[in-house]
Amino acid sequence: MVMSVILAAGKGTRMNSELPKVLHPLLGAPLLEYSLENVEALGCSPRVVVVGYKKELIEKAFEGRGVIWGHQDVQQGTGQAAHIGVEAGGAEISDDESVIVLNGDLPLLKRETLRSLLETHSKNNAEVSVLTCIKDVPYGYGRIVRKGGDGAIESIIEEKDASEDIKSIQEINVGVYVFRHAAFKEFYQKIGCDNAQGEYYLTDVVVEAVKAGKTVSSFTCSEEWEIDQVNSRRELASVSEQVRARWLGELMDQGVTIDDPKTTYIEKGVQIGRDSRIFPFTYISSGVVIESGCQVGPFAHLRAGTVLKPGAEIGNFVEVKASEIGEKTKAKHLSYLGNVKIGQAANIGAGTIVANYDGKNKHPTEIGDQAFIGSGSILVAPVKVGKQAQTGAGAVVTREKDVADGETVIGVPAKPIKVKNRS
Ligand code: UD1
Ligand code: CA
Repeated sequence: MVMSVILAAGKGTRMNSELPKVLHPLLGAPLLEYSLENVEALGCSPRVVVVGYKKELIEKAFEGRGVIWGHQDVQQGTGQAAHIGVEAGGAEISDDESVIVLNGDLPLLKRETLRSLLETHSKNNAEVSVLTCIKDVPYGYGRIVRKGGDGAIESIIEEKDASEDIKSIQEINVGVYVFRHAAFKEFYQKIGCDNAQGEYYLTDVVVEAVKAGKTVSSFTCSEEWEIDQVNSRRELASVSEQVRARWLGELMDQGVTIDDPKTTYIEKGVQIGRDSRIFPFTYISSGVVIESGCQVGPFAHLRAGTVLKPGAEIGNFVEVKASEIGEKTKAKHLSYLGNVKIGQAANIGAGTIVANYDGKNKHPTEIGDQAFIGSGSILVAPVKVGKQAQTGAGAVVTREKDVADGETVIGVPAKPIKVKNRS
């Protein structure tokens, strides 16, 4: 079993925010979600997250995720944070099992890279393994100092503690490590805080293992972008762009047409079926399900809880929230649909508004199969419009004044009239 420890106690000063860094949303999910999903996918257990700054907020956001929380109330360094994490979960693994420790702000890191690090660790029967990367501009990172000869890791030196010679080294410490549980405990005892920042460095645990002659291995990740961190809002935006490009790429591989990925925002976790097409300038929030053969946009906004059944079409300037849009139903222009359940093959005319909110509560609306909602209709919830019912242009269907199956209503407030059958 591999235990994971994610370090997330820092405030993230450069975010210039009241919100802890790991709660800043990245494509609709908090930053920490990305690291947590990675260790979940790797099957790590137990999974520990070390929190400090505004820890209650973070714990609440990840309630029910089976995380063991470590508390670092005063941030005295990554070494101390890792120690707190290892203590918090250590009773669940033996001394011989492994602990993967990772910084909480690496959302682009690929699962395969973490897997490769774990494989390197076990293949070499190492006490410690370190993830490294070669950076064109290594500024700010801890540098990996290697021995002449076999090239094994000799030391890791922080930017702030580095001489000019060390600063010229381009191989950097990513902030991801695997330790044999016993080795972490043994070598953590040996570190101090006599350094430029007066902190207990996690990197010094690695260096102590080297000094004791233990096997310290490393895996070098080949793609620089994978280790881009989020330290500031500028970095949040640029990392977000990369995460988005990757995610839209996955959706396209799954058979979704995205006409212009640059202007299309689809948050994490949205499900989209094959042969659906998403037109430009569209925003789709987490918690939306789009089944196969649907069309969305341009300029559409789909919010959480929305389900589009196969072949549904949502057009320009239509906002849909917490609604089910039935098979082959169309709402093509200028509408708000909130808390609505619409049946099959209905037509929602231009400018239709569902008034679902009375200032206190949100109320539901139902629209039956093949209903025809005339342009500019307002449906005041709670209300039901029956199957094959029609509303005239500009009708205001008031609350609880349900429209029966096949009935036609017009006017303000809407009243039934007799009409010849539509079809
Ligand atoms: C650390 C590494 C450095 C590496 C860099 C990669 C050390 C000493 N240095 O640097 O070699 O190149 O990461 O980004 O480890 N944290 C805590 N408690 C603390 C301090 C930090 O939980 O007391 C957490 C932060 O929330 C963050 C992570 O640890 O998620 C890394 O902290 P950060 O300050 O960014 O690391 P650096 O000191 O820059
Ligand atoms: Ca720091």
